[in-house]
Amino acid sequence: MLFTITLLVIIGYVAWRLLQEENPLDKLPGPPRKPIVGCAFEFIGMTPQGLFKRMRHYAKVFGDRYVVKVMSRRILHIHSVKDVEIVLAHSKNIQKSKPYTFLEAWLGTGLLLSTGSKWHRRRKILTPTFHFNILKNFAVVMEERSRVLVEKLKPLDGLDVSLMPVISDYTLVTICETAMGTQLDSDKSTAALKYKSAIMEIGSLLLSRLTRVWMHNEFLFRQLPTGRKFKKCLNTVRSFADNVIMERKKDWKPGQGDFSGDADIGTKKRLAMLDLLLEAENKGEIDMEGIREEVNTFMFEGHDTTAMALVLGLMLIADHEEIQERIYEEVNSILGDSDRAVTMADLAEMKYLEAVIKETLRLYPSVPFIARTITEDFMLDDLKIVKGSEVAVHIYDLHRREDLYTNPEEFRPERFLNGEVIHPYAFVPFSAGPRNCIGQRFAMLEMKTVLSSICRNFKVYPRVKGARPEMVADMLLRPADPVQVKFVKR
Ligand code: HEM
Repeated sequence: MLFTITLLVIIGYVAWRLLQEENPLDKLPGPPRKPIVGCAFEFIGMTPQGLFKRMRHYAKVFGDRYVVKVMSRRILHIHSVKDVEIVLAHSKNIQKSKPYTFLEAWLGTGLLLSTGSKWHRRRKILTPTFHFNILKNFAVVMEERSRVLVEKLKPLDGLDVSLMPVISDYTLVTICETAMGTQLDSDKSTAALKYKSAIMEIGSLLLSRLTRVWMHNEFLFRQLPTGRKFKKCLNTVRSFADNVIMERKKDWKPGQGDFSGDADIGTKKRLAMLDLLLEAENKGEIDMEGIREEVNTFMFEGHDTTAMALVLGLMLIADHEEIQERIYEEVNSILGDSDRAVTMADLAEMKYLEAVIKETLRLYPSVPFIARTITEDFMLDDLKIVKGSEVAVHIYDLHRREDLYTNPEEFRPERFLNGEVIHPYAFVPFSAGPRNCIGQRFAMLEMKTVLSSICRNFKVYPRVKGARPEMVADMLLRPADPVQVKFVKR
């Protein structure tokens, strides 16, 4: 009986292979592919650090294009500027691939995960949220929050500070106030505190899941302790967000989410992205479920990405005293001795700081790769990519290519001021093309606000000069060990 079943499986598999059209991706290099499982065994037992290093190794040994086959999935990995441009600029192939689906239980099919006409509709509704006038409102929140952060750091003068907890607290509180209009830190209710820690925990549970293949199956995941914890956190996060949305809706009047005017944040009720969504609901453009999806999407995309960039930026600044001094001089030349709140115009003048942030994002792009499922055959120059294949764009490897950057491993902000970065797709930390990051101007403002404020108030020192953490990559690029620096008051 067993023999017959095995024979039938083998015959079925051979027939299926013979009937399949030859896929051009099978001719590309990549780790050894075994029948049925493909390269799956290559990754078994690998640590997250090991996986990160292995991907860098593949880029070196296999060159610009390589294929990793896992069971029947063919994943084309690319990092040359020419290929990256074709994929990111494609107007139809905008569907996200498998790893993103782990986020669906939390984010639904909000802007990050949706595709097709739903994505187009949502992008249209949400684009005005990042208009200059609205960002001006959000910049005030960022500035106030960065003052609070500086006050929190003052008593830690000269001590080793683990950056991630303090910085992610800042970005979480900021995005919560701008997205939902809720002040997490002044609201000391149990619900707000639980929400904050549930969001943090979801991040680490997602990392566990992504790096452990056996947790990829939905049914199994739900039975495991990590899956059960994940569900508990999701319930906390959902009910908090739902309450905030309902509360805001109770007081809401038509026109409140009209951001077109030059609203004065000091005197009016503070506007949040949620107001714009409630305005869209009033016009019948989105329903309550949609609002929930988008609020959660902004909470997810809007805090961890920026926190990661700030942590690694501070690590690099701490290690380069001369760069830190240039930031200090630039900020002082704009603000002088005044203690006034920094404005958008001040921030626009901080060109050197902007170059420092860009150089940080070049070396450590918070989103190190982007993955698409191909829904329509297309030509990648000379290579046909057929529907159903997946393409992974490695921003991390692109940003460290020697044909694009001189001494790519070096931290040299000047390269963003001296015209070294020419090709529009050579530097894409916020992606590019139709699915680029909708929050990039928000993120740049936030990073400039907080870094200028820190550099004005402190000298930052590394714990160990020249030390660089090993990295891991889930959806985001993260240091494997905590990054620590010393803040010494100026
Ligand atoms: C340093 C900070 C940030 C980086 C490096 C970053 C990077 C990215 C990248 C690479 C994508 C494309 C993802 C993909 O195609 O799979 C993306 C999309 C997105 N980002 Fe950001 N992001 C940052 C901050 C933010 C912030 C602050 C917000 C919101 C306030 C935000 C909201 C979004 C959303 C909603 C999308 C999906 C856009 C769409 O598909 O239409 N991001 N981001």
